[in-house]
Amino acid sequence: QYLAQVTFAFIMLSMIFMLVPRMNVAIKRLSEVLDEEISVKDKTKTQKLPKTFDLTFENVSFAYPDSEEAVLENINFSVKQGETIAVIGGTGSGKSTIAKLIPRFYDVSKGKIKLGGVDIRDLKQSELHNLIGYVPQKANLFSGNIRENINYGSSKNLSDEEIIEALKIAQAWDFVQKLPEDLNEKVSQGGKNFSGGQKQRLSIARAIASKAPILIFDDSFSALDYKTDAKLRAELAIKTKSQTKFIVAQRVTSIMQADKIIVLDGGKIVGIGIHGELLKNNEIYREIASSQLSDEEIETQIKDFEKQKTISKTQKNTKKAVSVSKKIAKKSLKKVISKKSKKGEK
Ligand SMILES: Nc1ncnc2c1ncn2[C@@H]1O[C@H](COP(=O)(O)OP(=O)(O)OP(=O)(O)O)[C@@H](O)[C@H]1O
Ligand SMILES: [Mg+2]
Repeated sequence: QYLAQVTFAFIMLSMIFMLVPRMNVAIKRLSEVLDEEISVKDKTKTQKLPKTFDLTFENVSFAYPDSEEAVLENINFSVKQGETIAVIGGTGSGKSTIAKLIPRFYDVSKGKIKLGGVDIRDLKQSELHNLIGYVPQKANLFSGNIRENINYGSSKNLSDEEIIEALKIAQAWDFVQKLPEDLNEKVSQGGKNFSGGQKQRLSIARAIASKAPILIFDDSFSALDYKTDAKLRAELAIKTKSQTKFIVAQRVTSIMQADKIIVLDGGKIVGIGIHGELLKNNEIYREIASSQLSDEEIETQIKDFEKQKTISKTQKNTKKAVSVSKKIAKKSLKKVISKKSKKGEK
């Protein structure tokens, strides 16, 4: 028994000798992280929140910290509040990077990002974050229950009705409803007890529940089947009309209805337009589309676009004609009136 105690003491001692250097490394790493200067800071004098939240990128270039190479170069676009803007492009083209610059996870290296005309660096970060519902490319759920996971990121406590409404829009209520504890169902660390598509939908519901005026979906529909993807987008269009939607996607069908599509290639914008327009004129977009759609579908969609264009042209012309004829009518009426009044004077 005595021998056992001595052996045990030796084992403990050797373990301590093994652990101390490891601990030293951990402490050193921790102090490095703590010492690292936070590059994104609030200015001492911040601006008031704007009234509307049109989003503008002005000549934005960006290189990651500690890297020389620019991953975004001269990015220019704007989107009005309530519109949907989509970004498509190959892997590594910089789509997620654009998305990350909007909530200021990083600051631009050159140029400006504006919300309602105000440079986002002039806003309080806490206020900026409240304006944005951000769904990262990799859904991040934490241990807790579904209610807590959806409520996270909202500035107030949401009612169950509000949470269910968000889950419904995100096409998640169907499966959540069927869980034994529905909203109280446990979520394990990282959401391991849910499938990829389920995690994505919970993460989407969280952003929707925040009711933030700007919603960012970074490749958030990729794990959804086509039908669910289509249903979700239809719901988004109805229920989040006044919110700006920024959608990063790989699938052309996910962004066909967007008000504006940005085609990104190697950190540069190589095309901006609507689906039919880009199909017709943009080689890279056409290439992406032809790997996902049949030739027949592409041809019909280009034809539809051209038809729509002539319709809107005639509509514009008709409007112009009406307004010109109204003006002429007004003028002649004025003439008649002035003549009559002159006669009256005599
Ligand atoms: N934290 C980082 N530090 C340094 N470089 C990075 C970092 N994150 C991304 N990059 C680089 O920036 C470029 C753009 O990456 P980004 O993630 O924006 O591409 P993406 O278009 O979203 O690609 P994917 O379709 O694969 O998601 C890539 O070359 C990538 O290696
Ligand atoms: Mg990405």
